[in-house]
Amino acid sequence: MVKIDFHNPEFVERYMKKNGMLFKAMKEEIARLLNDITLDGKRVLEVGCGTGYLCFEIANMFPEAEILGTDLSEAFISHADRIKERENFDNVQFKTADALNLPYDDNSFDFVFSFFTAHWVDDPVEYLREMERVLKPDGILIAGDTRYRFILSFIPGFKTAFRLKKAKDITMQAGIREHKFTSGFWYWRVDNLPVQ
Ligand SMILES: C[S@@+](CC[C@H](N)C(=O)[O-])C[C@H]1O[C@@H](n2cnc3c(N)ncnc32)[C@H](O)[C@@H]1O
Repeated sequence: MVKIDFHNPEFVERYMKKNGMLFKAMKEEIARLLNDITLDGKRVLEVGCGTGYLCFEIANMFPEAEILGTDLSEAFISHADRIKERENFDNVQFKTADALNLPYDDNSFDFVFSFFTAHWVDDPVEYLREMERVLKPDGILIAGDTRYRFILSFIPGFKTAFRLKKAKDITMQAGIREHKFTSGFWYWRVDNLPVQ
């Protein structure tokens, strides 16, 4: 089992330096997923935002969106805040928050998303339920995580990610509203995006 201390600022620096390829791929992916959607004038929440790179990408795509990035780790949130200040992202805010107990009202966001966080939280079913709770009835949800066999192939010993069956079981148990479950080569995803 790989152990990671997300609260260690040195880990955050390493994560930032080592994951350039992931960040690039995910920025392209979010741009593709949101291709037919506008978030200008909408409220956006990211759960487990890490360094905040996807919040910044969405801020570039939709300058009129109100974007909130949350993460349990103060080290990650401080890092994201420094980038926000340096790059003048006025429409992005960051806040320390537990994915399992989001400090937001029901039905309060138009778009809620999260990547690579499901297998780190203590209760992944509650994690999905919380995201849906704060999502407006006509809102968009995307939650995705790395595939077990993909990550294991390049990080030996990394057995924490979910196999597809478990990811599907969690989604079923969460009982989230109408959604699609998709598995690509490197990550699986639950979303209610319009069919592309
Ligand atoms: C592998 S990182 C992914 C970060 C980011 N989404 C990305 O794509 O780089 C997992 C993130 O989940 C956060 N996390 C773990 N448990 C959490 C919880 N209970 N609530 C909120 N965030 C949590 C960690 O601090 C870390 O930033």
